[in-house]
Amino acid sequence: MADGDRTGAEGQRILVTGGSGLVGRAIEHMVTAGEGRPDEKWIFVSSREADLTDAAQTKALFDRLQPTHVIHLAAMVGGLFRNMKYNLDFWRKNVAINDNVLHSAFEHGVTKVVSCLSTCIFPDKTTYPIDETMIHNGPPHSSNFGYSYAKRMIDVQNKAYHQQHGCTFTAVIPTNVFGPNDNFNMEDGHVLPGLIHKVHLAKKNNTPLVIWGTGTPRRQFIYSLDLARLFIWVLREYNEVEPIILSVGEEDEVSIKEAAESIVSAMDFKGKFVFDTSKSDGQFKKTASNSKLRKYLPDFKFTPFSQAIEETCNWFVANYESARK
Ligand SMILES: NC(=O)c1ccc[n+]([C@@H]2O[C@H](COP(=O)([O-])OP(=O)(O)OC[C@H]3O[C@@H](n4cnc5c(N)ncnc54)[C@H](OP(=O)(O)O)[C@@H]3O)[C@@H](O)[C@H]2O)c1
Repeated sequence: MADGDRTGAEGQRILVTGGSGLVGRAIEHMVTAGEGRPDEKWIFVSSREADLTDAAQTKALFDRLQPTHVIHLAAMVGGLFRNMKYNLDFWRKNVAINDNVLHSAFEHGVTKVVSCLSTCIFPDKTTYPIDETMIHNGPPHSSNFGYSYAKRMIDVQNKAYHQQHGCTFTAVIPTNVFGPNDNFNMEDGHVLPGLIHKVHLAKKNNTPLVIWGTGTPRRQFIYSLDLARLFIWVLREYNEVEPIILSVGEEDEVSIKEAAESIVSAMDFKGKFVFDTSKSDGQFKKTASNSKLRKYLPDFKFTPFSQAIEETCNWFVANYESARK
């Protein structure tokens, strides 16, 4: 358990579930880098402190830590190929984790919970750009229906806790996240960390880079450190129960091919790259609108994509031995 060294005796005790993951570690980094306040005590937990699929362990964690605020990140997470294989596990584990965390938060009188949805849970057949009002407007893409429906139920529960008990439980909706401490597994992870790992190996072994799919799908990527700053803002300032999309603008959407080119350039890979079109592309696009975010924070500056990619590639190379892969 990483325990922020702020006392917070009279102040806030902020519990971050999923604290050892990509997003949790980014929030921890920003808190220790100066975003934390003296009256806040930040507590980052992983599955080692409690298996949140287990109601008794979740309750015991809340009994012990007595949080006043919760950022709920813990989830079974994976890329396209892991989702396609394990839809049932994604559904069951995530529904259990979310129900245990939200109900423990309610029973312990937590003032505010910020949970995490994802733009990949939106309806497959939709108009673009997608916005916060469209989450439940139709079935999700078939590749990840287990994860998607489980995540959508967080929004249902948030509204129900508010209606029945007046709780301020809300959720953010990030686009694809990447950054240091990601899961760089090439089969089970998300597209960018998988590609970073592949480019690293292709460069080391002098082999061609093989990109799964056609390279044409388009995505909005958010750097984990930018997302972390936005999470802290949501915890402190955003008081709606309705969720909010946290994303770069529609104009910043890139194709998988363009993203791969950015990585190739950041890692100075000089070899050939080919597309394995026998592999699935997943959803072609899921362009999200960040206009709600922009209404609240018109001046928020996102890290330029190429700079964020370079920082992530440098982190991966420097931490190759210990990185999740
Ligand atoms: N990555 C993305 O592109 C993306 C995009 C949109 C939304 N999100 C959402 O953002 C949140 C964080 O994602 P991430 O990418 O940071 O995930 P991650 O790196 O895979 O980390 C997952 C975290 O959840 C914890 N966890 C998993 N199962 C658990 C269990 N049974 N009990 C307790 N803790 C458990 C893990 O703990 P251990 O380290 O102990 O296993 C880890 O801290 C998730 O809710 C995810 O759905 C992610």
